[in-house]
Amino acid sequence: MNLDEIANNQPIVIMPSVTQVRSSYRRDVFYLTKGVSHKSSLEEKKHGIVLFKGNCFDILPTIPENSIDMIFADPPYFLSNGGITCHAGRMVSVNKGKWDVSKGIEENFIFTQRWLRECQRVLTPNGTIWVSGTAHIIYTVGSAMQSLGYKILNDIAWFKVNPPPNLSCRYFTHSTETIIWAAKNKASRHHFNYSLMKKMNNNKQMLSLWSIKAPGPAEKIYGKHPTQKPIELLDRIVLASTRPGDIVLDPFSGSGTTGIAAFKEGRQYIGIELEQSYLDVSIKRLKDAFKEKEK
Ligand SMILES: C[S@@+](CC[C@H](N)C(=O)[O-])C[C@H]1O[C@@H](n2cnc3c(N)ncnc32)[C@H](O)[C@@H]1O
Repeated sequence: MNLDEIANNQPIVIMPSVTQVRSSYRRDVFYLTKGVSHKSSLEEKKHGIVLFKGNCFDILPTIPENSIDMIFADPPYFLSNGGITCHAGRMVSVNKGKWDVSKGIEENFIFTQRWLRECQRVLTPNGTIWVSGTAHIIYTVGSAMQSLGYKILNDIAWFKVNPPPNLSCRYFTHSTETIIWAAKNKASRHHFNYSLMKKMNNNKQMLSLWSIKAPGPAEKIYGKHPTQKPIELLDRIVLASTRPGDIVLDPFSGSGTTGIAAFKEGRQYIGIELEQSYLDVSIKRLKDAFKEKEK
């Protein structure tokens, strides 16, 4: 389905908060997700926030092409394969969930290329995507992006500042993740809030090395997600690459961190998540953020 097909069938939804930003704003999230057959788990009309429970492989194809300004994806890293890690000072097995079990090198590549292809289709011509990962998946992501003709803009090294120790003492302590920032294709003229990034960095050009702590207990009061990202990280990503009122999508929404950052910064949001328990956490976190803003 494309934008014209939707336009012929559907009335344009006008939302007060985001339409103040763009006077003839046709691309609001409810208008764009009319073709999604899944029932939404959360719809916040006033702020343009919608969450869907389902598989992104089913939902993304029902969103019109060239409609999303920015995507953040924190996909399965495929690292839950019986290894060990340190959690709260104790040795525990790495088991994030069934969704994180490796399918093997070739299948992991096919999976990654498939969702990246759908994301590329829905991005606006100048839209950008950010994808996080560790060594388990990030080379696959980079390779799949290149195969699809994305234009890689930066690879951010996220330094986690307070990582857990390495228990085996046979490796350096893992303390970084990579976040690839890419534009839809070579012809894209991507948006970058250069001045704001510089201002946020004491008036010096922002580096591609970001020191940001992993989320603390205050960000987990409504329940834990095993791979939750810090709001500060998503805040920076949203501010760097979008304008107020823009549409942000996360195909692996988890506990809704991207949605919270999007909402905080006055952007619209479409989140897609498989697991109900993570959606429950997202809804509580988002409702809390709505209340906080209204105070
Ligand atoms: C790495 S986590 C994302 C965590 C998120 N960034 C946060 O801050 O909470 C990946 C999430 O994707 C979900 N997931 C896995 N496969 C999916 C699929 N095919 N469609 C939608 N969600 C999926 C998992 O349930 C998991 O919550």
